[in-house]
Amino acid sequence: GPDLFAPERRNSEGFDLTDVPTLARIDAAREPHGKAEFSAQPILAGKVVGATPKKVVNPATGASVGRVTDATKEDVDTALKSAKPWAAGAAERATVLNRAADLYEENFGPIFALLAREAGKTQMDAVAELREAVDFLRYYAARGLELKQPPLGIFTCISPWNFPLAIFTGQIAAALAAGNAVLAKPAEQTPLIAAHAVALLHKAGVPASALQLLPGDGATVGARLTSDARVNGICFTGSTETAMLIRKAMARHLAPGAPLIAETGGLNAMIVDSTALPEQAVRDIVASSFQSAGQRCSALRCLYVQEDIAAHFTDMLFGAMEELTVGDPWHLATDVGPVIDEEAEQGIRAHIEKARREGRLLRQLSTPRGGHFVAPTVIRVKGIAEMKREIFGPVLHVATFDAEDLPKIIDDINATGYGLTFGLHTRIDNRVQEVTEALHVGNIYVNRNQIGAVVGSQPFGGEGLSGTGPKAGGPEYLARFTKPEPAPAAG
Ligand code: NAD
Ligand code: ALA
Repeated sequence: GPDLFAPERRNSEGFDLTDVPTLARIDAAREPHGKAEFSAQPILAGKVVGATPKKVVNPATGASVGRVTDATKEDVDTALKSAKPWAAGAAERATVLNRAADLYEENFGPIFALLAREAGKTQMDAVAELREAVDFLRYYAARGLELKQPPLGIFTCISPWNFPLAIFTGQIAAALAAGNAVLAKPAEQTPLIAAHAVALLHKAGVPASALQLLPGDGATVGARLTSDARVNGICFTGSTETAMLIRKAMARHLAPGAPLIAETGGLNAMIVDSTALPEQAVRDIVASSFQSAGQRCSALRCLYVQEDIAAHFTDMLFGAMEELTVGDPWHLATDVGPVIDEEAEQGIRAHIEKARREGRLLRQLSTPRGGHFVAPTVIRVKGIAEMKREIFGPVLHVATFDAEDLPKIIDDINATGYGLTFGLHTRIDNRVQEVTEALHVGNIYVNRNQIGAVVGSQPFGGEGLSGTGPKAGGPEYLARFTKPEPAPAAG
């Protein structure tokens, strides 16, 4: 049949941020939503419940963005009783999901406003995030047409705040494209954009009983939604620690064989050898470490630079960092926005202060006042082996190496147990092959940055502690949301 994710529809067009009229168009579309108060409440079988008491604040300014009501225990129970797998055929589901994609694109004004105000996203990140969300809707709509097996039933989808639209939407679109009923729990930091997205999905024609929204904390609402025998499968993106808690809860409460599709954290490295093109490598390091204020699972955490170019190379890197504008993402020229909240800010600062006390702080940009800002920072390390956990912010760790150290470095990267992204800058072809074969990592990027996997052409996901697979945005993903194929008869 025709490929509905065909070239003329493939990947949302996005916005050209070098074009001045486009910037003016974005500004005008965001304007009415710059001060507006948004709200998020549980949406159960189409009914909005609750009284919206908790404040949601802008991480860059502390100003109010709106209010959220968390789902109660009774709300979770109501949602489970009301949930009904989407009875329409795959073609109709695809039509509705494609219509939702169009609605997302048309509603770029409030979406960009919410991404900046609630999630601290720069305009560049907001454009990429909207594109990714739209791509997930269209891609899974198309792939859903190929499924042979029926839906599993009720899926719990739990998402992180760092892609409050793209990952929130991607999980839901996958589960819906396969015909499941979805109970969606957004991250506690970003319920408003989630509520906005659910409204657009319902408007596009997703039945109220097939998609319900349950805002709330992980430890309460999240835990309830992952420990109820009526749930048939769980799609989770977030930290490795939370994935482990969910795995335990499922083992105790869900039917054996209920799938957990988990995408989790990383300790991502890049190697730059002395044959790399320095200008290109510097540009890609700045993007990989500091774009999204380092709050991407894919972000570069530990850079290895070959010793003989290291001094010159780090000078170039520090020079490029000076060009970054850190501040309120509402301003279109901002390159690096805030981190998500007080807890994140304090955790990252403590890590930097420890490095400062130990004499390992190499460079830090100046920090804007107010808001949860952490300025891009570079810290010296001996290697990735001393990094025990993911620091989820704009902090780059740098080590140097000699050519004979490479096998040991590869072993150290593998020994972290994580395996999400890896970057390599080299012009030695053999090295590309050797390194990529030896590493247990989901996504490897050669001579480019290591963030921003594109739906449909770069399926994204990790190995080991970084995720269960199958990769999101790839052809294998949807099958996990259906009943497994019956095993072939023996004999
Ligand atoms: P988190 O694990 O704290 O929270 C993620 C979600 O899980 C939230 O909705 C939260 O409310 C919920 N949750 C927390 N405790 C729970 C529990 N006991 N039961 C059920 N749900 C619970 O992660 P975060 O801080 O929101 O996101 C950052 C993390 O996500 C980083 O580790 C990052 O690497 C990871 N991440 C991974 C990917 C990927 O594709 N691999 C993508 C984005 C983010
Ligand atoms: N898909 C996101 C990236 O590649 C996480 O950066």
